[in-house]
Amino acid sequence: MTGKDTRLSVLKRNRIADILSGENVGNRIMVMGWVRTRRDSKGGFSFIEINDGSCLSNLQVIGDDKLKNYDKEVLTLQTGCSLRVVGTLVTSPAKGQSVELHAEEIEVFGWADPTIYPLQKKRHSFEFLRTIAHLRPRTNTFGAVARVRNALALAIHSFFQERGFILIHTPIITGSDCEGAGEMFRVTAFDLDHVPMKNGQADFQKDFFNQPAGLTVSGQLEAEIYALSMGDVYTFGPTFRAENSNTSRHLAEFWMVEPEMAFCDLEGNIDLAEAFLKHLFDHLLKNCEEDLNFFNRFIDSTLLDTLETLTSENYERLTYSEVINILSKAKQKFEFPVQWGCDLQAEHERYLTEKIFNKPVVVTDYPREIKPFYMKVNEDGKTVRAMDVLVPKIGEIIGGSQREDDYDTLLERIKETNLDPAAYWWYLELRKFGTAPHAGFGLGFERLVQFVTGLPNIRDVIPFPRTPGNVGF
Ligand code: 4AD
Ligand code: MG
Repeated sequence: MTGKDTRLSVLKRNRIADILSGENVGNRIMVMGWVRTRRDSKGGFSFIEINDGSCLSNLQVIGDDKLKNYDKEVLTLQTGCSLRVVGTLVTSPAKGQSVELHAEEIEVFGWADPTIYPLQKKRHSFEFLRTIAHLRPRTNTFGAVARVRNALALAIHSFFQERGFILIHTPIITGSDCEGAGEMFRVTAFDLDHVPMKNGQADFQKDFFNQPAGLTVSGQLEAEIYALSMGDVYTFGPTFRAENSNTSRHLAEFWMVEPEMAFCDLEGNIDLAEAFLKHLFDHLLKNCEEDLNFFNRFIDSTLLDTLETLTSENYERLTYSEVINILSKAKQKFEFPVQWGCDLQAEHERYLTEKIFNKPVVVTDYPREIKPFYMKVNEDGKTVRAMDVLVPKIGEIIGGSQREDDYDTLLERIKETNLDPAAYWWYLELRKFGTAPHAGFGLGFERLVQFVTGLPNIRDVIPFPRTPGNVGF
């Protein structure tokens, strides 16, 4: 390697993931990363474990006293230092690793004073790591989470692209509350100390958009527009909810995948959801073996078995009424009492998926009162063509429905849920011009990541969680 070849360059740098898969043995290579540990041997050499985030495993570097900075620098390397190593990759005689790098040059970019660097070799609690979100991706768990998220994002796109779905970028700022639950964060350009008022209320006519606006709670309504022009579409974007839920399953900002299909009914929708989840689990098992093994070992020892079973086994399908029947016969005492018309709580969802069926359960045909206005009303007039996919430990991971495609019924539902029909004029018009049966669903990306990693708290499966009181980093 000439002096020129060792410039800092992402192209010249070898990724540890590639090195450990057996490339480059016998070659001179260059690695850059962060020190995990250093151990010195009496014979005048040191073992340095470095990690560059490309995989869970570290690369073992061996540096000896022939290095010009051995005494002054190499012997003082600590967890967290960043460096560049040039050397020859050799097959390792040691157990537990295939190769090691014999350093000819070690250049330290940045030091990390061990008396103040918060990440030390011991295990840290997830609560503590949340307070250092700028450093936590340097830990095994958060590196693995980031790689799993990345793999899932790819698998999501490949699933839909292979089936001819068109990706639609739906807006982040919107004037309509899709879920009708009033959980939108307001977007405004008002000077909040001097808000223009009219009849005692903020005068949004004078605001940036001349009307109230907010951050989207779902891209569904806009996805429907495109489905009713292009057939099968999907969106995958950030979603915001100002609900004040301090739970292990709720974020104020999360990512949602929303397919929407014209000429599709509830059964087709469920079929797609099931095929989708199976594709994602299968992709992970094939592409994230090392990270999944890590989660299986340290977080949840049933993980691999569960994922493997769920790539093949059929998911249970039953109606809300059947669920109420099962729950009301349950010996278990629930905090929230069960009766027809009540919303299903996490405890009910977990009872079904963990105690009764021990696999994902798709619940359909919920009471109209507890579901949003856009869901198609069944002939009984009491229930809607809703579907929630529930999984063990997490509960609801997917929520979807066949959409109301009849103009009059939709108008009635908008009014009945106290929404302003004028704000939904374009949504209503889709039912006036070329309406068609259509359906879709939303998968909560972070709930999915929770499920496949076994991590108990949703705040640990997104790089920078936003929850009530938390918007740091
Ligand atoms: O059930 P939801 O509210 O459905 C919708 O938003 C529909 N518009 C989707 C559609 O049909 N296109 O949300 C869908 C999923 C939930 O099942 C859950 O996994 C996730 O989004 N989700 C959340 N994830 C994290 N934090 C929150 N606060 C979430 N709220 C919903
Ligand atoms: Mg839902």
